Amino acid sequence: MLISAFLSLLQATSVLVSLIVLISFHGFQVDGKIDRFVLNVVENGTSVNEQIEVDVENQTEVIRAPQHNDAEAVEIMNDFTAGLSAQRIPATKDCYVSELDSSLPSPAKMKLDLEQASRQPLPTKVRTERTGWRVVGFADRLTLPKKIVDFCGSFPIFNVEPISLDAFNTTMVRDSGHGRRKRSHWISRWNGCDPSDASKMSACLNKHYHNFSKITLNCRYDTSFSFYLVSKCRASANWFHLGFKCDSILHQLNWPAVCCTPSC
Ligand SMILES: *[C@@H]1O[C@H](CO)[C@@H](O)[C@H](O)[C@H]1NC(C)=O
Ligand SMILES: *[C@@H]1O[C@H](CO)[C@@H](O)[C@H](O)[C@H]1NC(C)=O
Ligand SMILES: *[C@@H]1O[C@H](CO)[C@@H](O)[C@H](O)[C@H]1NC(C)=O
Ligand SMILES: *[C@@H]1O[C@H](CO)[C@@H](O)[C@H](O)[C@H]1NC(C)=O
Repeated sequence: MLISAFLSLLQATSVLVSLIVLISFHGFQVDGKIDRFVLNVVENGTSVNEQIEVDVENQTEVIRAPQHNDAEAVEIMNDFTAGLSAQRIPATKDCYVSELDSSLPSPAKMKLDLEQASRQPLPTKVRTERTGWRVVGFADRLTLPKKIVDFCGSFPIFNVEPISLDAFNTTMVRDSGHGRRKRSHWISRWNGCDPSDASKMSACLNKHYHNFSKITLNCRYDTSFSFYLVSKCRASANWFHLGFKCDSILHQLNWPAVCCTPSC
């Protein structure tokens, strides 16, 4: 409990002034059922066109982010009926399923936010959140909703759990060779690159329980993906004006099957 409260506190304050500039935003409807939006972001000179589909009736959101810079293309389905999220990565032919992040806006809220945000200049402040994913094992296709199984298609489906990397002093290194690393077995909560990393991590957590940023994580990965969302949107009203404001753009960086070696 203490740990997770601490993590969310740090996440809330991780506001970055970044190299990402938002250029434009268009909202349009395909039919009565699915609302489709395109979010265009320029990331380090690369134009990224992200598609967001919101289906309020079916309680799903689908985000499609193309390959850009270091990140692979990804398709994400948030299923609010089952409380699950699926991440499909064509480059590695993997599908990851996790519990739905409870801070995500519901389809109705997402639709409202995007409709409102598309009618006005977007915030230029970008908030970055970094999440590593530990692979827990193969998912049981029989217990997954059909929506998710269909979305993953022929790719193998893995259960994954998030690890916030924001609380630590984290460096990320892409594994050279691009070969697929054998998936390490995560021991307790920590995905060590080596079996001894779990005990190193416990020792570091005991030593620096009051300030995790004193713990250095050297993390290795072979795939990453990222996407953008408009964040913290709300109606604002005063005596003279009825308005709508989004606080920032959320840039969510993800490293599936990451492994980290701690030092402290
Ligand atoms: C943009 O490029 C710089 C320098 O190469 C890098 O440090 C930074 O992480 C990049 N930003 C993104 C969002 O990829
Ligand atoms: C809900 O999703 C399913 C599966 O993708 C689809 O067959 C169905 O038409 C959708 N229902 C609505 C109301 O859009
Ligand atoms: C935590 O440690 C970092 C790095 O040593 C330091 O910059 C920061 O001020 C510390 N924060 C607190 C609350 O002590
Ligand atoms: C953070 O990690 C880097 C790279 O490992 C290290 O050089 C630096 O001293 C660390 N910073 C803190 C505050 O521990």
